[in-house]
Amino acid sequence: MAKNLRRELRDAILTKLAKKQDPLKGFYCDDQTREAILAVLVAGRHLLLEGPPGIGKTTVAKIIASLLPAMETVADCRYNCDPGKPACPDCTGKKKLKKTKVPGEERFIRIQGSPEMMPEDLMGDLDPVLAMRLGIQDPRAFTPGKIQKAHRKILFIDELNRVPQRTQNTLVQVLEEGVTTIAGFDLAYEVDTLVVATENPEEYAGAERVSETLSDRFEQIRIGYPSVDHEVEILQQYGNRIEGISAGDAIMQQAVSIVNAARSMPDELERLPSVRTSLSIYEQSQAHARLKNKKKVGKADVEHAARRVLTGRLSVSSESKYYERQELLIEKVLDLAKKD
Ligand SMILES: Nc1ncnc2c1ncn2[C@@H]1O[C@H](COP(=O)(O)OP(=O)(O)OP(=O)(O)O)[C@@H](O)[C@H]1O
Ligand SMILES: [Mg+2]
Ligand SMILES: [Zn+2]
Repeated sequence: MAKNLRRELRDAILTKLAKKQDPLKGFYCDDQTREAILAVLVAGRHLLLEGPPGIGKTTVAKIIASLLPAMETVADCRYNCDPGKPACPDCTGKKKLKKTKVPGEERFIRIQGSPEMMPEDLMGDLDPVLAMRLGIQDPRAFTPGKIQKAHRKILFIDELNRVPQRTQNTLVQVLEEGVTTIAGFDLAYEVDTLVVATENPEEYAGAERVSETLSDRFEQIRIGYPSVDHEVEILQQYGNRIEGISAGDAIMQQAVSIVNAARSMPDELERLPSVRTSLSIYEQSQAHARLKNKKKVGKADVEHAARRVLTGRLSVSSESKYYERQELLIEKVLDLAKKD
């Protein structure tokens, strides 16, 4: 079984490391987590990222895909065949194959896990209209699923734990052997992919877990909230700026402190605010200052923005003494942040 994708990924990572560059540049986490992720990828293993929403799981998966070099494929081939060895039903039998280049960052297929996801969504299915025209024996009548489309790409499966067990099981063979069988055609088709999946164990109480047979095929890595310094860097890199308004490091620091103050009260909250909340406070504080015709965001603008953003986002636990008194909790959070 060819595993070119893994080799390409490993080479890309090792080349960067040899040049003292960070292969995961743009993803902020502690050194231990970074090393663990890189070790899994260099070993060519599938990666399961566990952690709460909004802490950079999708971001890091995209960064991983963008490490891959551009690849040459057959144009219009739904299976991303290598023009050197076309193997799919679309390409076999064709005399002339047009080539095209796919840039590294497009070597990324995303699947949103949901309870409605059927095995056919992953493994493909017979297209009834094409089957009528071409005959049901013709493999061209087969519509590839996400798995086949992920050939020579990173397959990103968000919230794998929400995928029903039956559909999870269909993944096991692919991960293990790198082969899919096209239903009803007796056609084993190679899939060279590496899966980066995410799981959020706490969020969906009662929802499915990733089955043991499947999770056994992954290396699991837990990701937590970034440190304050990293979160400020995230705002610097990803926070939108409104033109004509100055909103420097102190403002970012304040937004991050507020969100961290809220995170220090897990007993009062249904769920903790993510980095998206910090980003939102940072952006809204600029908007607020702008509407007041100011040139510079001040502390009061950040607090004002934080009140509004947290009102929309903080869900107070029914066990908390602040239940149905969210505004008091928010004031407490703002107070706590000041002492930071
Ligand atoms: N550790 C991080 N490094 C870099 N950017 C981050 C990090 N955490 C959050 N972000 C930023 O916060 C936003 C949300 O991140 P992202 O979508 O990657 O989170 P996620 O973990 O995939 O969330 P979800 O579980 O809701 O899908 C993005 O703008 C991203 O740039
Ligand atoms: Mg995501
Ligand atoms: Zn093909």
